[in-house]
Amino acid sequence: MKGLTRAIGLAAVALWCATAAAQDKSFPPEQIAKGADIFARNCSPCHGPRMQDPESAFDLRKFPPDEHDRFVRSVTNGKNQMPPWGDLLKRDDIEALWAYVTMGEKK
Ligand code: HEC
Repeated sequence: MKGLTRAIGLAAVALWCATAAAQDKSFPPEQIAKGADIFARNCSPCHGPRMQDPESAFDLRKFPPDEHDRFVRSVTNGKNQMPPWGDLLKRDDIEALWAYVTMGEKK
């Protein structure tokens, strides 16, 4: 009986870990903060401060969270009225922006 209790305990811990990992898409807070900083300097004039009030530009709060590659492509190469950022931002910067856009303003 003791073994069973232990097994249940371990299963509960494993489940708890899996749930925690699924909720947090595991962007470190520093990466989100870096993205927020880059966003405030480069993106907020068009996409709105803290992604609020984007006027005519894309509302980034609605960007699909499963389209990481599209995000990187659009930011690197630009899209229509949006300038390309590939020369200005490093790959790390764009990943930080991605972390911010997907997680940064979630409550
Ligand atoms: C000069 C204004 C301007 C700035 C600055 C700007 N954007 Fe945009 N952005 C736009 C406009 C306009 C669109 C809509 C493009 C379209 O779909 O026609 C857009 C669209 C986007 C999209 C959606 C692209 C898609 O695949 O549909 C993303 C993602 C994006 N911007 C990210 C950023 C990021 C990150 C920054 C800062 C590095 C930034 N933008 C800076 C104007 C801007």
